[in-house]
Amino acid sequence: MVTVDAIVKLGGSVITFKDRPLTVNQEVLDRLAEELSASGLSRLIIVHGGGSFGHPLALKYRLQDGYKGPEQREGVVATHRAMLKLNEEVLKALENSGFKPISIPPLASALASSGRLKRLLHEPFVKALELGFTPVTFGDIVFDDTRGFSIISGDSLMTELSSRLRPSKAVFTVDVDGIYAEDPKLHPDAKLFEEMTADELLNLMEETRSRPVDATGGIGLKLKEAYKIASMGLDVYVVNGLKPGRLLKVLKGVRVKCTVVKGVKP
Ligand code: IPE
Repeated sequence: MVTVDAIVKLGGSVITFKDRPLTVNQEVLDRLAEELSASGLSRLIIVHGGGSFGHPLALKYRLQDGYKGPEQREGVVATHRAMLKLNEEVLKALENSGFKPISIPPLASALASSGRLKRLLHEPFVKALELGFTPVTFGDIVFDDTRGFSIISGDSLMTELSSRLRPSKAVFTVDVDGIYAEDPKLHPDAKLFEEMTADELLNLMEETRSRPVDATGGIGLKLKEAYKIASMGLDVYVVNGLKPGRLLKVLKGVRVKCTVVKGVKP
C-alpha cells in the first residue's frame, strides 16, 4: 500500500469568499498550492470544501434533506456544477504549483445512506498516488439509498480516506487559528487549544454542541470528523489557511500556531 504523506482539506471558507457567491479567494488558493508544493511532500491527497460555491445553492434548493420533489433537480445540477467549477480552480492552482492533479468527484465514486457516506471507491486514489498524480476530491452531492441524494462534506471524505489510506497526518485548513474552547468569532478572547487529546476534543464537543450553520453541519461536523480521525491513531491538525506560512510549517513538522489533536495509539 502506498504511503500517504498527508491528506489536506482546503476549507471552503478559506479558498472562497463565503459572503460573495461563486467567488474564489485566488490569492489564498494560489498561496496554499505553493505551500503544499514547498513542503516537498509528494504523496498528498487534497480535499476541498464548497464555500460560496456549494453551500448557498444547497441551502436554496434545500438539498440537505434529500430528494423531496422534481424541482430540486435543477438545484442538484447547479450545486454539482458549481462544485466542479471550484474544483477546476483548485486543479489549476495545484498544476501551476507543479502538481499533476487528478479530480475524483464523489458523485461518481461514492454512495451515501441516510445522509452518511456509505461507500467510497478508494482504489483510484491509491492508483493515482502510485503513478505520481495528486488526487483531488471535494464535498459534493452523492446518491443516497434512502434519501435519493445527500450532500457529503469534504470533512467526511477526510475521515473515510484517512481510515482507508492512513496518511501520516490529516490537516484541516480553516479561517481561524485552530480549535477553541468557545467560538472565537463570538468570543475574541476564547482559549485556543494548541494540543489536545481525542478525549479532550470529545469533551469539548459535548460541552459546546455547536449548532449546524451550513448545508453540511458547520464546525460541529468538522470536530466530529477530527475526533474520528484522531481515534484511528492519526494526528490531526487544524490550522489557519488565511495566515501565510502556517500550512507549510504544519506539513514540515515545524511548530506553529494551530491545534494538533494527538492520535490515540491503539
Ligand atoms: C460542501 O462541502 C459541499 C456542498 C455544499 C455541495 P464542505 O462541507 O466540505 O464545504 P466547506 O469546507 O464547509 O465550505
